[in-house]
Amino acid sequence: MKLTRLPLVLSAGLLMLMTFSCDSGKTVPDSAEARADNLLEQMTLDEKIGQMSQLDLGYFMDPEQLKQAVRDGRCGSLLNFLGTEQVNEIQRIALEESRLGIPLIIGRDVIHGYRTIFPIPLGMAASWNPEAVRQAFRISAIEASSDGIRWTFGPMIDITWDPRWGRIAEGCGEDPFLASTLATAMVTGIQGDSLNDPTSLAACAKHYVGYGFAEAGRDYNTTYIPEPLLRNVVLKPFLAAKEAGAQTFMSAFNDLNGIPTSGNQFTIKKILREEWGFDGFVVSDWASVTQMVNHGFAEDDKHAAAIAINAGVDMEMATTSYYDNIKTLLDKKKITMVQIDDAVRNILRVKFRLGLFDNPYVNPEARAKILDPSFLEHSRTVARQSAVLLKNENAALPLAAEKISSVAVIGPLADAPRDQLGTWCFDGRAENSVTPLKAIRDLLGDQRVNYVQALTYSRDRSKKDFAAAVVAARRSDAVLFFGGEEWILSGEARSRGEIGVPGAQTELLEALAATGKPIILVIMAGRPLAIGRELNLSDAVLYAWHGGTMAGPAIADLLFGKESPSGKLPVTFVKGAGQIPFYYYRKNTGRPASAQSFTPVDSISSVNPQISIGDKSFHLDYGFTPLFPFGFGLSYTTFGYSDIELSSQVMKMDGTLTVSARVTNTGKMDADEIVQFYVRDRVGSITRPIKELKGYNRLSIKKGETVEVKFTLRAADLAFFNGKETVTEPGRFDVWIGPSSEEGLHSDFILE
Ligand code: NOJ
Repeated sequence: MKLTRLPLVLSAGLLMLMTFSCDSGKTVPDSAEARADNLLEQMTLDEKIGQMSQLDLGYFMDPEQLKQAVRDGRCGSLLNFLGTEQVNEIQRIALEESRLGIPLIIGRDVIHGYRTIFPIPLGMAASWNPEAVRQAFRISAIEASSDGIRWTFGPMIDITWDPRWGRIAEGCGEDPFLASTLATAMVTGIQGDSLNDPTSLAACAKHYVGYGFAEAGRDYNTTYIPEPLLRNVVLKPFLAAKEAGAQTFMSAFNDLNGIPTSGNQFTIKKILREEWGFDGFVVSDWASVTQMVNHGFAEDDKHAAAIAINAGVDMEMATTSYYDNIKTLLDKKKITMVQIDDAVRNILRVKFRLGLFDNPYVNPEARAKILDPSFLEHSRTVARQSAVLLKNENAALPLAAEKISSVAVIGPLADAPRDQLGTWCFDGRAENSVTPLKAIRDLLGDQRVNYVQALTYSRDRSKKDFAAAVVAARRSDAVLFFGGEEWILSGEARSRGEIGVPGAQTELLEALAATGKPIILVIMAGRPLAIGRELNLSDAVLYAWHGGTMAGPAIADLLFGKESPSGKLPVTFVKGAGQIPFYYYRKNTGRPASAQSFTPVDSISSVNPQISIGDKSFHLDYGFTPLFPFGFGLSYTTFGYSDIELSSQVMKMDGTLTVSARVTNTGKMDADEIVQFYVRDRVGSITRPIKELKGYNRLSIKKGETVEVKFTLRAADLAFFNGKETVTEPGRFDVWIGPSSEEGLHSDFILE
């Protein structure tokens, strides 16, 4: 095929141009790889450097400057730039007015929805439903691509043990297995069936790597992660994302074991490229290249650029140390032309795969799908499946709408349309949110809802409306209290030292509880809060996270029993910040605590000899158990587990083992149960966790019905990195099938 440039025809919003190629007169090769090579041969150094630079719209003083930069080939990617007409125009300039006509790749943070907002990722993780999560990300991609975005900076798959860290909201929680399955679902949803489908976005696995281990949960802080923890836990979801075909990775802000991750040859060159064979491109996080100067790892921006390029960061986000310094660095032999060519080839390969050369334009009609009713319905389903019932004393829930004369709806989050959308939500709009107050009024009618907000936002300390709230409670059959955190308290740079319920919410709950009315507490938050006091003041607690656009109807569905809550915790809930870190796959220690050994602080006499009280690993005040364990979640029905069976008591290294059990819905309502499968490796060449999730299954079980659930293990599932190598070691293993990380049927087998 001869290279030709076709004219752009944008008529009545309909796009006709579908083909582009460059002007060399050479034959166009077919594969992305060959096309990238072919193009690379024709590029000047300036054009190559342009491809390695991603600029934010805010960088340009006026729109003409941006256009000129694109015309000059000095920027290959934009972020925070969107809109059908704007994107089509800037792509037209890139294609028609730049020398080689290389399209831009336009990226944006589409983290848990674009216009239809889904629960925060931590909430979605509580659904343990990869298929529903995949669909949510597909919907996000369909909506975002209709505004010209073909690359999202997601999924965010940082494992963390620290609820103080505000960005816990954006990830999948503490567990590498759950996070890996969800990472796969997210990447598959974002990228669709085929990358060059106009609704497919390139995914970006972030933040590579270790960012969730910030010391003290303080955002951007230093991380120290020994290699076994890095490989056995932190890297797992990233490997899953790579295996699912994620086209890009984002190098992070953090210093990892003394080497900032945006200059880290070990994690980028050795692990990602050499060991995993990743062939997409690596983008830095925002200014994370030049921030290596602050880290004390680079003398100046030029030095930082050299370090990042040598580590394998292909594209620099937001700052211009590449643009400003690559030529000098080449002259001084601090970097090589081969490195530049490799970086550019990685970027072009992804642009070709996305079909950007052939069809870079947005069809304006695609916007018609935004907020499609089916998208909103899916958002409601995911929000429903994400909510976790933590307490339900005396069957306080569900409420019977037909029997209720009225309910009191109280609290700062009952009618907070922006807050329910959660953090990292650039494009979702508060006016599209359906709040719990609206949903409950729709269900019961205005007359049966006594609404007093009482606190205007979650940190509000004013008690001036407490009396009105108490009056509303007294007039009602039950109190529905919507509390938690505003969206602004979680997310990037939103770390907290104390993780309690803020403001005067607890005092308000105390005043309401004193009325003797049943208290139903719904928490909407971006992190697992320490809710011990609030738990004691309530009859029922539903943890609904920041549930997105349709949080209101989803919560109402659960409170009034249209469906049973079915979410399970993707993260351990601690009693207080002093218990952090507390995660279920901790080590046993040499002195594991038990109920017998625990000595509560108040039981200790003030006169004591020098002894180690209890002699075991616990806190005198918190004890040795969390507030709620990983995997925990109640239902309106009950489930019985029985008949755990192994296909054999001995598993061969080259064989498989099947572990099965029966789960019966022993209650009065059809419901979903998330069945969990855990393993413990009794003895290892390094100490092993007390439990590790190796499988799970969300099952819909009708009342009275029994289903059989099976999990299959291979030796590779039991492998771990021991500091020197990845091994599967023979010996005895425990297995459990159960409803949480702390309960379940037990058996064991030998691996030989
Ligand atoms: C910084 C954040 O850490 C990252 O997650 C985000 O994608 C970029 N900014 C771009 O907005």
